[in-house]
Amino acid sequence: MCGIFAYYGDRSDAVSLVIEGLKKLEYRGYDSWGFCAKDIDNNIHIHKEIGKISNAGKINTNYKSSIAMAHTRWATHGGVTYENCHPHTSEESDIVVIQNGIVENFQELRDELIKDGHKFTSETDTEVVPHLIQKYISFGFVNACKKALARLEGSFAFVILSKNVNEIFIARRDSPLIIGINKNEFFIASDTTPFAKYTRDIMYLDDNECLVINKKKYQFFSLITNEEIKKRVVTINWDIKSTDKGDFDHFMLKEIMEQKETIKRALNQKDEDIELVAKRINEAYGTFFLGCGTASKVCMVGEYFFSKIAHKHINAIIASEFPSYQHFLKDKSLIIGITQSGETIDLLEAIKIAKKKGSQILSLVNVEGSSVHRLSDYSFLINAGPEQAVASTKAATSQLALLLLMAYAVAGKLQEGRQLLIETASKINDMLNPRYLKHIKKIAKKIKKQSNIYIIGRNANYPIALESAIKIQEVSYIHAEGFAGGELKHGPIALIQDGVPCIALMSNDSFKEAMISNCMEVKARGGFIIGVAPENNEVFDYWIKVPDTSYAQAMVNIIPIQILSYYLAVLRGQDPDKPRNLAKSVTVK
Ligand code: G6P
Repeated sequence: MCGIFAYYGDRSDAVSLVIEGLKKLEYRGYDSWGFCAKDIDNNIHIHKEIGKISNAGKINTNYKSSIAMAHTRWATHGGVTYENCHPHTSEESDIVVIQNGIVENFQELRDELIKDGHKFTSETDTEVVPHLIQKYISFGFVNACKKALARLEGSFAFVILSKNVNEIFIARRDSPLIIGINKNEFFIASDTTPFAKYTRDIMYLDDNECLVINKKKYQFFSLITNEEIKKRVVTINWDIKSTDKGDFDHFMLKEIMEQKETIKRALNQKDEDIELVAKRINEAYGTFFLGCGTASKVCMVGEYFFSKIAHKHINAIIASEFPSYQHFLKDKSLIIGITQSGETIDLLEAIKIAKKKGSQILSLVNVEGSSVHRLSDYSFLINAGPEQAVASTKAATSQLALLLLMAYAVAGKLQEGRQLLIETASKINDMLNPRYLKHIKKIAKKIKKQSNIYIIGRNANYPIALESAIKIQEVSYIHAEGFAGGELKHGPIALIQDGVPCIALMSNDSFKEAMISNCMEVKARGGFIIGVAPENNEVFDYWIKVPDTSYAQAMVNIIPIQILSYYLAVLRGQDPDKPRNLAKSVTVK
């Protein structure tokens, strides 16, 4: 996880530029942050702080700098301390490193370096790297970096600078890093958001590649063969406004409200592309939906969509569990990776396994140019725009919309699917009004002091119950659990007692009556019911109305729970955009 943003160019305000940009990467980790700048007299300045960069005061610098790199941390090795913050340096502080990733063999390297007389000041895995470069420095800065990196096991994205040369060294293996270029200046970042306002021209640094930039030139090399690699500059289209909060207090609410538009944008796919993918699904020997976190629940909903609409069995598997299923893969198998960021390590590893077996890779991705997007044989962009709150909202419903459309296409009814989704998008637009938010906020006030919330659903509402639990837990820190309605009697009902809230997610379908019975069973044990349903029912203590949208109901039902989770977080004094211990892009195992 961790966010990296570095600048090399001819501006003299590199420090304020990287600090401003780093704020856009806080979704990647926010327990501490730091930066390093080289001033015009080649002095190195390092600054580190515990806490969120957005809470930091103004940093005054009395020097000019055109080379700077900044890092926001999500702790893996070593607690949240000043010493463990990045950047990390060699003993004389002349080699400075920031990293995202994990050096898996750091202990062995650290022992070797300690034997050589190196002294360490942090508990991090990263600190071995500047020391290792120092060990090889007689080969020159760039060669020393290459030699040091060749000894590392694990994943990494590095930016490295030296006090003694005017060069920076950038490298990646299995962790994201992207290069923005604008005439004589370079922006190096974990994603494009920190430099979106400066340039739209980017170059992709691929796995096991490095980039060396100095005042005269820039060169890409393979870390494996050491050969120089020529890169293309790609121009990306993005809407700069969409990375700001606008009039909203939090990104989470902004992104929930954007669902008025994003469902429609997800449908912006050519019919022939959807038909082609439908054909591949129909021809495949085994199709697997893979994802992590919210995306894994989207995969489960997809399994129901395909079963119900296309009578097609697809296997939904949590990406980190996929290695145990790889024996079922053949060259005619199809993997469908679902991911907002396109960088989640467990999904990337699963895709790499499948590629080795010769399986086809399809993906539904939000971030254009991300690793999954580029590794796939065919990739649909879901067009949700940047999602910055840690809790996934609009990306999830966009993925669901596209899966529903694909299920209709596999059933040979693409236009029927489009029609349903267009109508659903318009109903969501009407639903998301201030009165609706106020009603849900009132319910949040009633339950904000609860220690436990249970959520039940049947059919596609079952995985939505699981996703609802994730939403509530991650932003409000209330213990929440989702169950299949039918499973209630097999254990969870023992947890129901006086005053315990249970959310029932319902559709107007054949499961409705069974769900009402489940609600009755909860009520009979003292629980109270918050019904999320197109129609009111006397069993509900509170009703959150949702438009009746047939097979799209599960997709619609998650939206009021997103809103409820948001208000629960705010009313309990938590920051819904940056929940504790979490990060949006999970690039470590
Ligand atoms: C993290 C995020 C979740 C997200 C999951 C998978 O845990 O906090 O919101 O669902 O990663 O991320 P992806 O980018 O692959 O969808």
